[in-house]
Amino acid sequence: MKAVVCPKYGPPDVLQLQEVTKPSPRHDEVCIKIRATAVTASDTYIRGSRLPLRFLLPMRLVLGITKPRKSVIGMVLAGEVESVGASIRRFQAGDRVYGVTGFGLGAYAQYKCMKETDSMNGCLSLMPTNISYEEATSAAYGGLLALQRIEEGRLQRGQRVLVYGASGTSGTMAVQLARHYGAEVTGICSTRNLAFVHSLGADRVIDYTRDDPDALIGRYDLMLDTAGKAKQSPLKERCRQALQPGGKCISIDDGKLELKAERLAKLKTIIEAGHVKPVVDRTFPLERIVEAHEYVEHGGKRGGVAVSVDHAG
Ligand SMILES: NC(=O)c1ccc[n+]([C@@H]2O[C@H](COP(=O)([O-])OP(=O)(O)OC[C@H]3O[C@@H](n4cnc5c(N)ncnc54)[C@H](OP(=O)(O)O)[C@@H]3O)[C@@H](O)[C@H]2O)c1
Repeated sequence: MKAVVCPKYGPPDVLQLQEVTKPSPRHDEVCIKIRATAVTASDTYIRGSRLPLRFLLPMRLVLGITKPRKSVIGMVLAGEVESVGASIRRFQAGDRVYGVTGFGLGAYAQYKCMKETDSMNGCLSLMPTNISYEEATSAAYGGLLALQRIEEGRLQRGQRVLVYGASGTSGTMAVQLARHYGAEVTGICSTRNLAFVHSLGADRVIDYTRDDPDALIGRYDLMLDTAGKAKQSPLKERCRQALQPGGKCISIDDGKLELKAERLAKLKTIIEAGHVKPVVDRTFPLERIVEAHEYVEHGGKRGGVAVSVDHAG
């Protein structure tokens, strides 16, 4: 099968499209014919070395010190179940699924085998029926990140939420999910994304590049920082101060992303009801994965960047 391997850490062009052995499912695994994967912020951190040392070191301890232990990287997939092992109960051949492979990686490929049970090596669910495979990759990654933090924030109807980094994969999902749960939402993003974040349903949008003190007047119950701890700024600090007494600030980087199929299933219901629409900025074919990494690393994308996986020929 075709797969993208990452033989060493480095810039986007370390990635190479190669022919590798197609995996076969064990008794407790499903084999997924991948139709779309995604290039996420996490993928660029895994491949590259642009993270502060305090993030890079723990990551390298898990993924490999001098080069990735698992050469096929990629954390997000959507596709069809091609075959199942004898012990599989939740899925059958032909099911359309979406999920995150976590430390199992391996999503930059035509096929991936994974367990049906949740672990740090992934979680898998039936995908929403009303979206494309590409959109499903944005929903899986951004949706899992955003929904976990919204649940941790115990968001209540009528509360005021500040989404810091509202235009990225998790930010676009956070804005829409917070609206779905009845919150009043203020999104923070760069100038070019103001109208876009507004179109997602944000009641108010603030430009982080202009740092306008008046824009922060208000008392927020919850701040969701989806830009991550590696991206600090004086404005972010002031946003924290705009919280009302007892208000909570939750960063996307507070603790581990929980890989829970139950949460993916919840997102499926919300998306199928039309309350949330996952956003895909651009789709690249697997053969152009280097460009996709360059594009994500450059910054400024809206929602997620998907990669379509072709099976013709
Ligand atoms: N805890 C975990 O286990 C875990 C797992 C996976 C991912 N993550 C974290 O999740 C983060 C978010 O992922 P994502 O895919 O949603 O990211 P993303 O799509 O790259 O979005 C980043 C957002 O941050 C904004 N931003 C960038 N630089 C900024 C700055 N200096 N000040 C303010 N805002 C800024 C961007 O806005 P503009 O484009 O408008 O600048 C964009 O809205 C990752 O960076 C990673 O740290 C955590």
